[in-house]
Amino acid sequence: MEYRKLGKSGLKVSELSFGSWVTFNTQVDTKLAEDMFKVCFDSGINFFDNAEGYDRGKSEEVMGQALKSINEPRDSYCVSSKVFFSSSPNPKPTQLGLSKKHVTEACHQAMKRLQVDYLDLYFCHRADPDTPIGETVWAMHNLITQGKVLYWGTSEWTAEEITEAYEFAEKNHLTPPTMEQPQYNLLDRKRFEVEYDPIFRRYQMGTTIWSPLASGALTGKYLDGIPEGSRATLKGYEWLKKHMIDSERGQARMDKVRNLKPIADELGVSLSKMSIAWCLLNPNVSTVILGASKVDQLKENLEALEVVPLLTEDVQRKLAGI
Ligand SMILES: NC(=O)c1ccc[n+]([C@@H]2O[C@H](COP(=O)([O-])OP(=O)(O)OC[C@H]3O[C@@H](n4cnc5c(N)ncnc54)[C@H](OP(=O)(O)O)[C@@H]3O)[C@@H](O)[C@H]2O)c1
Repeated sequence: MEYRKLGKSGLKVSELSFGSWVTFNTQVDTKLAEDMFKVCFDSGINFFDNAEGYDRGKSEEVMGQALKSINEPRDSYCVSSKVFFSSSPNPKPTQLGLSKKHVTEACHQAMKRLQVDYLDLYFCHRADPDTPIGETVWAMHNLITQGKVLYWGTSEWTAEEITEAYEFAEKNHLTPPTMEQPQYNLLDRKRFEVEYDPIFRRYQMGTTIWSPLASGALTGKYLDGIPEGSRATLKGYEWLKKHMIDSERGQARMDKVRNLKPIADELGVSLSKMSIAWCLLNPNVSTVILGASKVDQLKENLEALEVVPLLTEDVQRKLAGI
């Protein structure tokens, strides 16, 4: 495992990390999470991603219990949370968004659920059009000066919104965002590669990229139907199944996956490993957040590190052509 600087900060994050969206509490209980964390720590992973909105806070509870039981030194790994979507099933107006009140309360609640004294990374899970950006920047800056958060960032903000946050922070001598958490994979490239390009250059922003397998589409396992127990079969994720498979958009993406498969076959590696390895080629990626519902998936995905050297310029050209 290699370690990359999170943007221009001094924090070194493992190039592969591990997240809990969909999986923790729904498919992964505390015992399985412990087994997965053992694999993560053995492989050198040092960053674990979470959010208040993942299963309404339950994902953070599972992560907190499993990390406590693993008992690795707190200074040897990083955990994150994200604020915006609320952990309440029926949020009141003060229980969601990026107001100073909710950003502060959600941080306290996440620390409690994760059983930690501080959050290493704390993200604004989406931009909040109802809150002035300056209010959110101030809230994050205050949490940092209180030692409750070490690095704050954004997730799926536009380049314009990120620029506004940087400019407000700079003008008011406050802490600017260090990182963004965008989707990036072989099927979803444009925002990362085009829209963010100027802000990578201007701010040396770090990134913790999500869904490297496009929720499993890039494993190729949905090419011949929907496997039992897979993400596309889960209750409450019907929207994702539609998005991923049962729509014109989904079918167009499946066609691309079908065309990517022979390139992986030619390299003699799984499509999953090739897809994850491809994300690591981009120097603006600080860490690729893996997702897995089974230990074997996690182990396979970690082997992507061995595939990176196989992705020659010729292979990259072929992949770009699809
Ligand atoms: N900031 C945001 O808005 C945002 C959004 C999404 C995710 N994230 C973060 O990014 C992390 C990763 O996202 P993701 O879970 O969507 O990642 P992903 O890698 O695109 O999808 C992971 C899922 O694909 C399936 N899978 C993974 N490896 C496999 C393998 N080798 N063979 C077969 N199936 C495999 C598993 O689902 P099944 O076994 O259930 O099919 C697994 O849970 C999340 O946990 C979260 O921390 C952030």
